[in-house]
Amino acid sequence: MKYLVVGSGGREHAIAWRLLNDASAREVFAAPGNGGIDEKYRANIQADDFDGIARFSRDNKIDVVIIGPEGPLSNGIVDFLEKEKIHVFGPSRAAAQLEGSKLFAKMIMEKYRIPTCGYRSFSSRADLLKHIDTIRSYPIVIKLDGLAAGKGVGIPENRIEALEFINAMVGEKSSVFVEELVKGEEASILGISDGETVKMLISAQDHKRVFDGDRGPNTGGMGAYSPAPVMTGERLKRVYDDIMVPAVRGMKKEGIPFKGVIYAGIMISGEDISVLEFNARFGDPETQVILPLLNGKLGDIIQGSIHGRLDKIDFSFSNRHCITVVMASGGYPGDYERGKKIEGLENVSDNIIVFHAGTNNERAGIFTNGGRVLNVTGTGDSIQSARSLVYGEIGKISFIGAHFRKDIAYRALG
Ligand code: GLY
Repeated sequence: MKYLVVGSGGREHAIAWRLLNDASAREVFAAPGNGGIDEKYRANIQADDFDGIARFSRDNKIDVVIIGPEGPLSNGIVDFLEKEKIHVFGPSRAAAQLEGSKLFAKMIMEKYRIPTCGYRSFSSRADLLKHIDTIRSYPIVIKLDGLAAGKGVGIPENRIEALEFINAMVGEKSSVFVEELVKGEEASILGISDGETVKMLISAQDHKRVFDGDRGPNTGGMGAYSPAPVMTGERLKRVYDDIMVPAVRGMKKEGIPFKGVIYAGIMISGEDISVLEFNARFGDPETQVILPLLNGKLGDIIQGSIHGRLDKIDFSFSNRHCITVVMASGGYPGDYERGKKIEGLENVSDNIIVFHAGTNNERAGIFTNGGRVLNVTGTGDSIQSARSLVYGEIGKISFIGAHFRKDIAYRALG
């Protein structure tokens, strides 16, 4: 089989690695990919160039296209490629609203009784400001309705911070809502669906803040680990019964079956589990810790989703543990420079997998080309051993300005 993976992050590198590693694929191409992928298999096509992706797929006889990021999914790449008779893994534009419109997701959750946090929605900045005047207790959660590259959520601690977020992020006619803040422990639970059946992947937790101790601004994710100890068997069953199955059944009832990865960002608060958000794609960096633990062929799971026969596909997960630590460019998640030479990749133990994200492969070596640069990943019999392996090796890799968190998986260690 020949696959094309659309996207350029660590998630896409991990998908390509897994397809080759478990012999799902003879060849895997990436558009546009990154410096971790052999030049020969990189297509210089951006993820929003639907015509380019269709042309490349036809010209290279690609069997299956896998879409990594949310942007093209929300813009209808699956509908576009299906019209061109190209097999593609991911939800349609309508189904991807589960991530693309937080209000649509709330509607589905309310209608199909999926536990989520209480909220009030507003269709203009003026209405939101009136509501802010009535709020007496902080923090609150303010969410923009559409995709905002991780910047659409504010958690102001007081009225001044609320007004700052609104001034910076909320336009006159923005669709926006205020949600109650639920405290607890977050986890990422991913399932694969073919529109009818949904099968769960192993649990994971990521670290969104840039600094140790979960402090500082939000990022795309500074590291992750799997499984998440907080996700006991009983909690996983509840997520399956009360969240995944009703969501997939609900979407089908709405006439927009959900195919692809359904990712529930959940909050565990005492006995309660509620959905903070749905995503319509593989998580990044969760994918980098989930796929190394998969027993089974990723290609079979993907084909099962596309062709509506996921019920016939068996897979499981190893009882090992996996952790990934993101090395980021100096300044990230704010402004950062690109083009710094990455040294030491060749010195890292064979037991480590380095998934590339913002990198470029040039004649003179591998150079930084993004905010999140590398995902240094390792597995072990325990989370402690996986963590010691990764932190014992990461120091061998360097580039000017590099920073990474030193405490990934601290929650798992109690
Ligand atoms: N790790 C968070 C996300 O993929 O959205």
